Amino acid sequence: MLYFARIMSTILLKNISSLVGMEESGKLKKSGNEMAELAIMENAWLFIKDGLIAEYGSMKDEQTVGSYSDVNTIDCTGKFVLPCFVDSHTHLVFANTREEEFVMRIKGMTYEEIAEAGGGILNSARRLQDMSEDALYENALKRLHEVIGFGTGALEIKSGYGLTVADELKMLRVIKRLKVVSPVIIKATFLGAHAFPLAYKNDHKAYIDLIINEMLPKVVEENLADYIDVFCDTGFFNPAETTQILQAAAKYGLKPKIHGNELGYTGGVQTAVENNALSVDHLEYTGDEEISCLLKSSTMPVALPGCSFFLGIPYAPFRKMIDAGLPVCLASDYNPGSTPNGRMGFVVSLACTQMKLTPEEAINATTINGAYAIELSDKMGSITKGKYGNVIITKEMPSLAYMPYSFGVDMVWKTIIMGKVFEKPQ
Ligand code: NIG
Ligand code: FE
Repeated sequence: MLYFARIMSTILLKNISSLVGMEESGKLKKSGNEMAELAIMENAWLFIKDGLIAEYGSMKDEQTVGSYSDVNTIDCTGKFVLPCFVDSHTHLVFANTREEEFVMRIKGMTYEEIAEAGGGILNSARRLQDMSEDALYENALKRLHEVIGFGTGALEIKSGYGLTVADELKMLRVIKRLKVVSPVIIKATFLGAHAFPLAYKNDHKAYIDLIINEMLPKVVEENLADYIDVFCDTGFFNPAETTQILQAAAKYGLKPKIHGNELGYTGGVQTAVENNALSVDHLEYTGDEEISCLLKSSTMPVALPGCSFFLGIPYAPFRKMIDAGLPVCLASDYNPGSTPNGRMGFVVSLACTQMKLTPEEAINATTINGAYAIELSDKMGSITKGKYGNVIITKEMPSLAYMPYSFGVDMVWKTIIMGKVFEKPQ
């Protein structure tokens, strides 16, 4: 392990300047006006026992806080304590970075043009096909430790850079190995339908048959995936192709989490909702029709503002969507092409500066609603007795808004995961 995790069966965080995100209502997600509701207790303490949140209260209650003797104590004077981020959309397993495409975009090529010329996802697939499972695992593990240091306490990881039977399985096996060693919960998503390999450019049916008849049965047999994803967008999979794959996966009980509406109004949202997707992610192109479709569903809309920032494409219209009464979720999309960054604190800043979410809304979107988007909100995403004691202790800061305000700065001092205190990698 890269980190030195200190295991403590009991931890008392005391003198917390503000404890943020208490929630005892049993709510599993927040929608519309509720998104602005974020409980804050000043001058607080929090007690974590056997990895779970046991109690919290005010430091003014000297008798109770004084009764915790012989426990590991962390003094949080001047610091905030929040639930860990839950990052519901990442591509954290990949072979190499793609800064040459970044330079091509600076010089004027678009993301779609690079993809059409065999770059983009296909570029990552070639490199991943050439890398051993062990090497992939080692470099993904480093990224996992990096994001835990940035306050991520659970995450989803997709395949989708394999695009052959053997290489999709290789990627998913790496994710499975990460699940075993990871201190944080990981959910795995099978994304064989991330792009059409060049050999299938003019024969979509053959690649879809490969996904349905070869990949899916093996993925299920080895129990490698919790969810299924399809990139339903211009130049990738159309709604009919997406539905075909999702229906095949539904027979195995795999719920959809869909990439949609990143590159245009392409029916991704409608396709996701029709197939009872747990979430539909990206949403840079979301209009009134998509909003009314989402309002009639339980599908969580997920935006990836790091991708909008990095590619210079529109931001999902989350202000409008919250005002329409929807729940919204924010995730990192950590991947080598569109978002080479997994720091959720930056996602929160972008949501505030570019999407006009308040800090409270952005924190709900990255905690409780993030947990909902990977079916963990009964265990994570808020300061709730009995939930996992996965919390962020910030550096000293004067207010909650200071966190997104200091946009380039990592404000996480320590991350606590199920009773272990994580120090950042050096
Ligand atoms: O979510 N849009 C599709 N997939 C990834 C990017 C993949 C890549 O460019 O490598 C995304 O942005
Ligand atoms: Fe993605």
